[in-house]
Amino acid sequence: MSVKLSTGVEIPIEMHKARMVQKIQLVPVEERLKAIEEAGYNTFLLKTKDVFLDMLTDSGVNAMSDNQFAGMMNADDAYAGSATFYEFAKAVEDVLGYRHVMNVHQGRAAEHLLAKVFAKPGGVVPTNYHFTTTKAHIELQGMKVLEIYYDEALKTESDNQFKGNMDPNKLRKVIDEYGAERISFVRMEATTNLIGGQPFSMANLKEIRKICTEFGLRLVLDGSLLCENAYLIGKRERGYEDKSVAEIVKEMCGVPDIYYMSGRKNTSVRGGCIATNDLKLFELLKPWLPVYEGFITYGGMSMKEIGAMAVGMREMVDPSVAGCSVEQIKYFVNRLHAAGIPVVTPPGGLGCHLNAGRFLPHIPQSQYPAGALAAALYIASGIRSMERGTISMDRDKDGNDVFADVELTRLAVPRRVYTISHIDYAIDRIEWLYAHGDLVKGLKFVSEPPVLRFFFGKLEALDNWGVGLKEAFKSEIGTA
Ligand code: F0G
Repeated sequence: MSVKLSTGVEIPIEMHKARMVQKIQLVPVEERLKAIEEAGYNTFLLKTKDVFLDMLTDSGVNAMSDNQFAGMMNADDAYAGSATFYEFAKAVEDVLGYRHVMNVHQGRAAEHLLAKVFAKPGGVVPTNYHFTTTKAHIELQGMKVLEIYYDEALKTESDNQFKGNMDPNKLRKVIDEYGAERISFVRMEATTNLIGGQPFSMANLKEIRKICTEFGLRLVLDGSLLCENAYLIGKRERGYEDKSVAEIVKEMCGVPDIYYMSGRKNTSVRGGCIATNDLKLFELLKPWLPVYEGFITYGGMSMKEIGAMAVGMREMVDPSVAGCSVEQIKYFVNRLHAAGIPVVTPPGGLGCHLNAGRFLPHIPQSQYPAGALAAALYIASGIRSMERGTISMDRDKDGNDVFADVELTRLAVPRRVYTISHIDYAIDRIEWLYAHGDLVKGLKFVSEPPVLRFFFGKLEALDNWGVGLKEAFKSEIGTA
């Protein structure tokens, strides 16, 4: 939510109060340099004891509500037939409108099942933009991901309100080129994660549905940030200004054949689910659930988390929940943009994305500017962000880097966790770093796993630039 002050200035406002808190600490810059060196300049490998603001992700780290904790306490722990699962299934039916649902341990487990069950020889999956784990699972089944975004989607600074839209003309071309029989499914991601959490419009979703129906294709919706996308439709799409988030969510969910999500985001717990109204599709997926996840009434999740998820499912459509991060992100992005910092615009539903390519224009993609920026930001602030650029792309089969379409450093904004003073601090340190960008150089891999290398890969700073950055910080700002 946001409120207008008497001065006319609009600010994000938290529609909750903190009644349980976790202490955090800001370790001195000397220790931050040591910590990032030990982490191989990879923010995934930092320990939280060394992190001040953890903006690595909004996954599994949102603040749960009092009612969600209560939902955990009275969960019915049973291997089979748990009453808590049926409460969750009822919430799914009431909120999303799906009659059939199965839990999975998290979003990527849903991706695994969908890619496995709907795999086709020489198959392809057109998507508005891939997510890292989605792509990995599709490729592990011998299939290929096709990115069918509008060209505008990769323009980091733009006033296009729906950069997450899929280009229907490109989709038709792909169908023409590969043939409908090779298309495993068409996938729409609600707020495209890797290109700045950008939403798609309802009109676009329905247009894609029409094409899928015309050619007999399955449409899959990744709703990990469903409610943020719905909130932004309400704010930006003509005809939806007076609809509630709950109404928009219901309408969106009525469009695809299959819905899945990481419940770690929208529902603020640790889990996921697959849902549909198509019993035949459900029955195709169901036998594999106990093989990889668990029995149908828990699917690899703890019943306590399912209890909290049932409550979170109903709470996530409350505009003060759906809009909590969105409004903070808008404040964050607009302030940086006004200060001339290269940041993805318009603000999306996931976090604030710095355009590392423009922030550090002297670093070539082969030296990973987005990874360097994430490490530099940690040294300058204790804030943990995430590389979303070439390090997040795996090498091709010949061992060459695959350059990312955009080099982004993402500061995720978890729901109901940080305050505006935290965001003001982040803005200040980003501005300081921008003014000292020349001190930051590239990175080089020291060790690199064969798949999803961004998780465990270790790098080193070219010319040991971290030391110079730390010295500049100490002399201009001080020890912390
Ligand atoms: N789909 C989307 C759009 C996601 O953002 C994620 C996770 C997944 C699927 C996979 O879900 O983590 O529960 O297995 N995104 C996290 C992130 C990891 O940091 O953005 P998961």
